Amino acid sequence: MSKFFRKKNVDELLSNKSGSGQLKKTLGGFDLMMLGVGAIVGTGIFILPGTVAAIHSGPAIIFSFIIAAFVCALAAMCYSEFSSAVPVTGSAYTYGYIVFGELIAWFVGWALVLEYGLAVASVATGWSAYFVSLLEGFNIIIPQALSGPFNPSEGTFVNLPAVLIILIISWLLTRGVQETTRINKIMVFVKVGVILLFIVVGVFFVKPGNWQPFMPFGFDGVITGAALVFFAYLGFDAVSSAAEEVKNPQRNLPIGIIGSLLVCTLLYVAVSLVLTGVVPYTNLNVSNPVSYALQVINQDWIAGIISLGAVTGMMTVILVMIFGGTRLLYALGRDGLLPKFLYDIHPKYKTPVKNTWVFAIIVAFCAGLVPLGALAELVNMGTLIAFTIVSIGIVFLRKNKEIQSGGFKVPLFPVLPIISFIACIFMITQLSVHTWIACGIWFIIGIVIYFVYGQKHSKLNQK
Ligand code: ALA
Repeated sequence: MSKFFRKKNVDELLSNKSGSGQLKKTLGGFDLMMLGVGAIVGTGIFILPGTVAAIHSGPAIIFSFIIAAFVCALAAMCYSEFSSAVPVTGSAYTYGYIVFGELIAWFVGWALVLEYGLAVASVATGWSAYFVSLLEGFNIIIPQALSGPFNPSEGTFVNLPAVLIILIISWLLTRGVQETTRINKIMVFVKVGVILLFIVVGVFFVKPGNWQPFMPFGFDGVITGAALVFFAYLGFDAVSSAAEEVKNPQRNLPIGIIGSLLVCTLLYVAVSLVLTGVVPYTNLNVSNPVSYALQVINQDWIAGIISLGAVTGMMTVILVMIFGGTRLLYALGRDGLLPKFLYDIHPKYKTPVKNTWVFAIIVAFCAGLVPLGALAELVNMGTLIAFTIVSIGIVFLRKNKEIQSGGFKVPLFPVLPIISFIACIFMITQLSVHTWIACGIWFIIGIVIYFVYGQKHSKLNQK
């Protein structure tokens, strides 16, 4: 039994880390906020306010966004504390390995593989919907057969744009990502710019009557909506993973994290208000609601600009998520829980080329052929599981006298980590039964892999 709870030694992890102690502390609070907004704003804002308002929350979707932001802010603080105490790759998986031991770490890692993989696939599908409508604006028509997952009765066979964007971004990532922060900043301005354009143009077409009834599905609908729009905030853990490179982390990390969540919440709430004010929420169940709303009010050329911004913005999210997924596989390969070749680094490009292609091909297959609609909630499930472990992990981290961190500490300990833990569990309970079943199947596969492969090949066996 003790095998399953063997833990990673923190000192060893820190000393093995390549370039340990060499990263420059250059990032300030504002840089972190830009990083956060870059990683967060993507498909969520361009798709969810439509579908979730139509089916679950109505115009009260703004409360769903605020509740989800609150849960994220709590979890984000826990992430920050971990990442400044143990600044190594692997995120929640590595943190779990240190405080709870191998089996729980494997569960978290396995949940995160699901999160990143499905997030990339679903963002790519959303990207494809906007890309196809953008091309239509230029009279370039992608044949129906090539624009959706395998579903002959609807006349779609493969979502070619989604497959191609995953492969292209993966290829870029294998070449090394150097200019990322600069490109990221430009993208953030483009994304935020088009969102503000939508708000400024749309606000003149709002009919307050469309906000009646405001909460057509009751508070239950708002809460279910919160568990779904949670997706729109994913990516902020990227901010906490920069902990090592932050000047004065105790002050700047919370500014960066809370600041980026605040900016995103304001944008999301404003977009939702305008969207549900312009078009009755009952008509918003479409794959590109933001540009759809502009078409409804005959602002076609602005709809075109918005689609362009959405298409660019979603690409950074795909990039960050593929990056996260491949670095996770890298950590799992390093520790022996998955095959070792996932840990190989290309001699010239210094990136995990093999694991990037394994990840890209599997994910591209799912995005291209599998109807993901029903599975998209699994992304939230995987993430919430990781958040739950990270939140309660803080309580154990503080007890661990070996880890002395001068970095960021969650305020009001242990109250906030415990509230965060409970809030995440509560959000998990709000996800649908089929998501629970799909998640159960995923974990059964995970357990089999761990017992057949992981525990036999674990690096910790060599001790
Ligand atoms: N937060 C990211 C998005 O909305 C995942 O696309």
